[in-house]
Amino acid sequence: MNARSNSVGQIRSVSAWATENWRFFRMRVAGLTNQRAAMQALLAELDGYAATYKEVTGRSMRDATIFEIGYGARPLRLLALTSQGLNAYGIDLDTPMLTTSLGNLVQIRRSNGWLRFGKSAIRSLIFDRHERRALDAALGARGAKLVVKSERFLVGDVVNLQLPEGSVDLFYSEDVFEHIPLTSMDAVCASLAQALSENGVALISPVVFTGLSGGHLPEWYPHTLQKTQSRHSKPWEHLRDRRYTADCHLNEMRLSDFEALFARHFAVEAIRNLQPDHGRAFLSDEIRNELHSYSHEELLGYKWCFVLRRRPHTP
Ligand SMILES: C[S@@+](CC[C@H](N)C(=O)[O-])C[C@H]1O[C@@H](n2cnc3c(N)ncnc32)[C@H](O)[C@@H]1O
Repeated sequence: MNARSNSVGQIRSVSAWATENWRFFRMRVAGLTNQRAAMQALLAELDGYAATYKEVTGRSMRDATIFEIGYGARPLRLLALTSQGLNAYGIDLDTPMLTTSLGNLVQIRRSNGWLRFGKSAIRSLIFDRHERRALDAALGARGAKLVVKSERFLVGDVVNLQLPEGSVDLFYSEDVFEHIPLTSMDAVCASLAQALSENGVALISPVVFTGLSGGHLPEWYPHTLQKTQSRHSKPWEHLRDRRYTADCHLNEMRLSDFEALFARHFAVEAIRNLQPDHGRAFLSDEIRNELHSYSHEELLGYKWCFVLRRRPHTP
């Protein structure tokens, strides 16, 4: 499937693009120092999926057919699940760089263009090796070993995904639904709802636009908030002056938009604010007044997890 990447090319000026990507690069370099903790956190997150799946369905995730929407350029969750022998698959617009090879880079250039090619080459040569080694070590502590099953990584637009009815027990998705165009949202949800098994669960966790990090500017990424660093943009710049643009497509959906969307297609079991109070230190009285049309909850949230089930009597 040929699909255009949505994680490149939104910024109009070359200098703005270079600045955004330079900040992103520095963030990745800084991340090289704590890979071990990052991989343990990743496995703990997957344990969280298993716990929710068990809680909601009474069944073990080991027996589930699992499907990830938007596994990303660093598809660590899907690699971790498949390496541990779980029956997991996923789809992404961008061709993943599962192993470093010229052939893979050429394929990425063909499918997703030159910019994605450049980003993938840098990522693969500098970061992937470290990250995969750390993942292998974290899996080793659980008696597993990193194995790359490339057939589990589908490439294409989720809006065109056609899965057999009732064939998936667990969908999950992290940081993806805020990037899907508004015009595709209902079609995507309808397709996932029909593919969900009778007793299945979907854990969809978007970054909601109205939070401090919702504008996807690297200088407001969650891990930067503890640091006293100088920034070019204001807190909640994306809801205020909007002088800077993230290097990706954002549909700008608010919490209530997601709630209404999911309620149209699923039974909404729970809505979890995964980082309540995110960015509180930056919400001055002045900004609060300026942003009075947004609720406290939606300004002080980051990622939200929607726990969804198949609606009874869905044809
Ligand atoms: C911010 S990244 C998140 C990746 C990964 N889930 C993670 O947490 O690291 C968003 C991913 O969603 C993918 N994506 C966005 N829209 C998509 C679509 N319509 N179909 C498939 N993948 C999509 C992008 O290609 C990108 O890899």
